Amino acid sequence: MLMTDIIGRKRDGHKLSREEISFFVEGYAKGEIPDYQASALLMAILLRGMDSEETLQLTMAMMHSGETIDLSSVSGVKADKHSTGGVGDKTSLVLCPMVAAQGVKIAKISGRGLGHTGGTIDKLESFPGFTTGISEETFLQNVNEVGIAIAGQTADLVPADKKLYALRDVTGTVPSIPLIVSSIMSKKLAAGADVIVLDVKQGSGTFMKSFEQAKELAEALTMVGRLAGKKTVAVITDMDEPLGNAVGNALEVREAIEVLKGEKQGELLELCLTLGACMLTEAGLAADDGEAREKLMAGIADGSALKKLAEFVSAQEGDSSAVYDLSKLPKAPVPYEVIYNNNGYVNRISADEVGLTVLQLGGGRVTKESSIDLSVGVVLKKKVGDEVRAGESLATVHASCEEKAGEAAERLLACYSISPESCEKPPFIKAIVR
Ligand code: URA
Repeated sequence: MLMTDIIGRKRDGHKLSREEISFFVEGYAKGEIPDYQASALLMAILLRGMDSEETLQLTMAMMHSGETIDLSSVSGVKADKHSTGGVGDKTSLVLCPMVAAQGVKIAKISGRGLGHTGGTIDKLESFPGFTTGISEETFLQNVNEVGIAIAGQTADLVPADKKLYALRDVTGTVPSIPLIVSSIMSKKLAAGADVIVLDVKQGSGTFMKSFEQAKELAEALTMVGRLAGKKTVAVITDMDEPLGNAVGNALEVREAIEVLKGEKQGELLELCLTLGACMLTEAGLAADDGEAREKLMAGIADGSALKKLAEFVSAQEGDSSAVYDLSKLPKAPVPYEVIYNNNGYVNRISADEVGLTVLQLGGGRVTKESSIDLSVGVVLKKKVGDEVRAGESLATVHASCEEKAGEAAERLLACYSISPESCEKPPFIKAIVR
């Protein structure tokens, strides 16, 4: 088989066979196919597309490029959740304990933040001592006994995606539905869960700018999940503004704990109830959405969801007393209010720009090797649709020094678009694709 023939066939709009797709993925992962040929094929796929069978074959070939996790020793239904990425997205911190308290087993591989988006592992490291560097044996034992384990991506899990994603990043081939689907689903399938719930973000700060694009992605993801024998649901949610109020690692952990304590309602809770209800119904632990939501809310009211978070943090060597005593979480020394001097209504908050403001404060990574300040970030007090009166604060910046606080406040002010006319907040949950 020749790589030049495979490139030519896709360039001319033909369907690739399972053998051709495997030849490419295996050859590229082993370093036998050069970057320039892989780049040409990726661009041909981006321009010509792939049907569901080709996308499934690409996903399976990528999944088999490395090790997979065998969860057969774990009793009960195993579930995993994935978000296509966003700003202020602390959903996993709330959702995982909420569903684990109801008997779903969470075995999750998470990432760190890069650029303007955050990562679950960095957020969890706000608990002093917390580690994701656990052995496979401990990971399986924790899923079985505690009900949640979260580990970092290892070099052995889907190595083809690591190489291909890095190449896509520099060849303009990230926004392709078959390439995104195979990248996400190969990692989810390698992680071994029975139920996969996907949070597909739509909005200015995401790959999928329009609802139609997000729906196409959600349908392609669920199709591949189902064809691979997994119960898969995708929820399309808004990411035109950051999720919830806090952006920044320890600040997001605080907000997650407030939701788990039942002290905070709003879109973060609604998202966790929607995703959690999908998990419970697909896992057969609730008859329908209504019963699932009732169970999840009962877990918040009786404290079992919060207790599950503490057990999980403790099982991964973190100081779980911080769950009950928030003063033990990292805290930035300089709080700084962002004051607005007119009357109006918030009609837009640029999610990307807020993420970049937190990055500039030191709360994010510019390169994979950068160290981050877990304590810094922003808390948005006004969100889209809210009225603002002259002299009110739009947000609080939490910074390491006055100078950085002032710079971030200026930048944050520019993230807001405020108009004299009131505006409707768009629906947050846009669709559920089963
Ligand atoms: N997330 C992934 O893991 N891969 C993509 O291609 C896009 C988002």
